[in-house]
Amino acid sequence: MRDPSAAWGFGRRICPGRDMAQWSIWICIASVLATFNLTKSLDEQGVPIEPSGEYTSGLGSYPVPHQCDILPRSEAARAMILSAA
Ligand SMILES: *[C@@H]1O[C@H](CO)[C@@H](O)[C@H](O)[C@H]1NC(C)=O
Repeated sequence: MRDPSAAWGFGRRICPGRDMAQWSIWICIASVLATFNLTKSLDEQGVPIEPSGEYTSGLGSYPVPHQCDILPRSEAARAMILSAA
């Protein structure tokens, strides 16, 4: 994306919550990465399934869904997840 900050608007109409939004996203992603291992799923032969690399079109473009494994990084992470549920 050429100018990602454009999504927040400009001048007097710039989003006043942009810093909170960006830091909230940062701490969410950091928490997921600290708690889970995200890996490619394996096919029947044990070969990693590669993401297609395709993206949706439109204003909010994102990768098309692909299969992956999201597992707790450790027993401590698993216990924390279960205690929060
Ligand atoms: C998660 O990844 C870390 C770092 O590569 C590794 O040490 C740990 O064994 C992995 N945990 C599981 C449950 O695979």
